[in-house]
Amino acid sequence: MTEENRITFPQDFVWGAATAAYQIEGAWDADGRGESVWDRYAHTPGKVLHGHTGDVACDHYHRWREDVALMRDLGLHAYRFSISWPRLLPDGRGAVNQKGVDFYSRLVDALLEAGIQPFVTLFHWDLPQALQDAGGWCNRATAEAFAEYTNVVGRALGDRVKRWFTLNEPQVVVICGYEHDWHAPGVNDPASGPAVAHHLMLAHGWAASVLRSVAPGSEVGLALDIWPQEPASGSNADARLSQWRDCVSNRRFLDLAFGRGYPAALEAHYRRLGYWPEGADDFVKAGDMEAIGVPLDFLGINHYSRNVVRDQESPDNLPVTVVPGDKTDMGWEVYPNGLYNVLMRIWREYAPRKLYISENGASYSDAPGPDGQIHDARRVDYLRRYFTAAHRAIQDGVPLAGYFVWSLLDNFEWAAGYTQRFGIVWVDYQTQQRIPKDSALWYRQVIADNGFLQK
Ligand code: FCB
Repeated sequence: MTEENRITFPQDFVWGAATAAYQIEGAWDADGRGESVWDRYAHTPGKVLHGHTGDVACDHYHRWREDVALMRDLGLHAYRFSISWPRLLPDGRGAVNQKGVDFYSRLVDALLEAGIQPFVTLFHWDLPQALQDAGGWCNRATAEAFAEYTNVVGRALGDRVKRWFTLNEPQVVVICGYEHDWHAPGVNDPASGPAVAHHLMLAHGWAASVLRSVAPGSEVGLALDIWPQEPASGSNADARLSQWRDCVSNRRFLDLAFGRGYPAALEAHYRRLGYWPEGADDFVKAGDMEAIGVPLDFLGINHYSRNVVRDQESPDNLPVTVVPGDKTDMGWEVYPNGLYNVLMRIWREYAPRKLYISENGASYSDAPGPDGQIHDARRVDYLRRYFTAAHRAIQDGVPLAGYFVWSLLDNFEWAAGYTQRFGIVWVDYQTQQRIPKDSALWYRQVIADNGFLQK
């Protein structure tokens, strides 16, 4: 190996790992925590694979000291985690649960003491059930409640937390949680989607403004999951469908976040369907678009794979070229070039001040071998290839400031329960033992060297 094969990242590049509250904390009813939509959903038979729940998860609520020590050992610069809204505000609004505040406050102190920068996500899907009972994100009042909750968090932690993600992947909430019944709260009403998306993005905009006033010096962003939608063939039908999918799942949220309003075709489509009422019933009120488009300090991109789109109904469809390529245990294609394309596209089309990869990683179920270690060579390979793609984008000018591997720990993978392991650290759910996998040890070296030798 020569030095020419070395990939080196910019000097102050932030290397991190990410988690989310419901996926790791457990302690679902401890110390005054209220119920969230994910508690209700997971406790409803038939919703989550094998009836798994987040009741215990990685028991991080009790083991956070050990987990911070683990992060310090890996040399992480930053840790992205989310706050459980119902742990702080059990009813969604009103009374604050001091024990919940204390938990996050201690965690933040421990991280800072370990030299790890906290990146806090305010909403990673665990809406208080009390707010869902009043209509959830179909209801504009939920965005108001989110601004109040943000105010509580900002005042409690804003003296120490300087990086914030308002929402994680609003698209998933809209599509999986409201239009379908794949995630909590499982509303299963396609007509609810446009209003839900609007109220989520309104909550984002309001929260960004709240944070800037109660936690000055903060940098505020949003985490969007961007899946390239690529046509399966050169047919017009596939091209049209992939553009439409891109509009619904990517462009809608990007355009809103960057102050461009709604894509005209999207608005026309939902108006035609009657999902977007006119006049006094219109969910878009005066001032909303300005609130939503408040300039951001950074954009977080969660990226895992791409979708190859085929319009099966079209007569002019050409044969599909099946994309060769490995798949992770989630069935998601390993396609590092997709990350490069996403970064270049967003930089060119939206010119964000700064970008983070707020999530990227792979599910592989490799278990401890006879030596007690986890030789997850496929995850090392995945990360190496995706890091290389990110590096290429940086070389080409993209202001990428950091990278958060999903996930620090194996955890509760939503509707798939514990069947998918995304962690760079193995979790034994019986004993709660943590074992850093080979990928964690490799990542530690990458961080120490701020790069790696290419294969
Ligand atoms: C993302 C979620 C995250 C995790 C990964 C695998 O969509 O933000 O919580 O489940 O997928």
